[in-house]
Amino acid sequence: MKILAIETSCDETAAAVVQNGRSVLSNAVASQISLHRLYGGVVPEMASRAHIETISPLCRSALEQARCRTEDLAAVAVTVGPGLIGALLTGVGFAKGFAYANGLPLVGVHHVKAHIAANYLHEPELEPPFLGMVVSGGHSHLLAVRGYTDFQVIGRTRDDAAGEAFDKIARVMGFPYPGGVELDRVAEKGNPAAFEFPRAAVEGSPYDFSFSGLKTAGVNLLHRFNQKGQPIPRADVAASFREAIADVLSARCVEAARDFGFRRVVLGGGVSANRRLRALLRQRCDQNGLALHLPPLELCGDNAMMVGAQGYYELQAGHTCGLDLNARASLPV
Ligand code: KG4
Ligand code: ZN
Repeated sequence: MKILAIETSCDETAAAVVQNGRSVLSNAVASQISLHRLYGGVVPEMASRAHIETISPLCRSALEQARCRTEDLAAVAVTVGPGLIGALLTGVGFAKGFAYANGLPLVGVHHVKAHIAANYLHEPELEPPFLGMVVSGGHSHLLAVRGYTDFQVIGRTRDDAAGEAFDKIARVMGFPYPGGVELDRVAEKGNPAAFEFPRAAVEGSPYDFSFSGLKTAGVNLLHRFNQKGQPIPRADVAASFREAIADVLSARCVEAARDFGFRRVVLGGGVSANRRLRALLRQRCDQNGLALHLPPLELCGDNAMMVGAQGYYELQAGHTCGLDLNARASLPV
């Protein structure tokens, strides 16, 4: 069963053909990074325009690469939210037109669920139940995943997402957008104990995160160096900051898995590419007898392949949408 999958939630136009939710037949991507880099972050209106320009040829190219005709498709799956509303609307609008024109079922996919499903493409044997953690530029979620379409939010960030905190500090340090990637690279040469950053807990909500205090602490530290006219010890700041985020994420994730009785942990989202997070989570899962599933780097960030994977299971569960489907900037899991 082949699905054409479309992802336009942020700064990457992507289309893929995925078979049975598990194998990628093609993957076409048009990245907008060089466009947004000029402004130090994503400019939503420009993202929407770039999606409109590329979505149609990109879908054609995904079908051609997969040697797939429209008659061979079982459905069209598209990210409906959460994300930038204008960006999402281009994908949803295109998917609706494509589904209608070709008489195909239309499947709306939640972005956070798709990040978890990215792991099915890499590990054919992986099945729920497991504890999922999605960490990206917009999300930090701990999820009880009891079935392919059965998700319960156990914990989430109360303010900034982990990726947002990484990007903010990286930007103040002068790294190009998206800064989390560069910060991770520079941190490799630094001392993670050089600076003491806060590890915030949310009172009464043991599985929730809060990264805004950490973000402010990082910004203040950098400003103090600037005010004194001293050079910023970038590698040490990056390593200490990264350590604080990786520590909190991995500790809370392992705790949630243990408390809710899960034997496996599945990671997803752009921040799951972070070297220290991967290593620390591996170490703590090993210590606690938990199996850890990490997506390969090409499946960590936003992509259409993961939309095809989750779309397949949504279709199996009968979750198809009408042509009144709308994109949603915020959408509960
Ligand atoms: O999943 P994603 O592509 O988009 C959202 O759903 O938000 O995640 C993008 C985020 C950005 O904040 C980016 O800086 C961060 O993931 N990121 C990283 C790394 N690679 C990407 N953060 C820390 N370390 C990395 N290696
Ligand atoms: Zn994402």
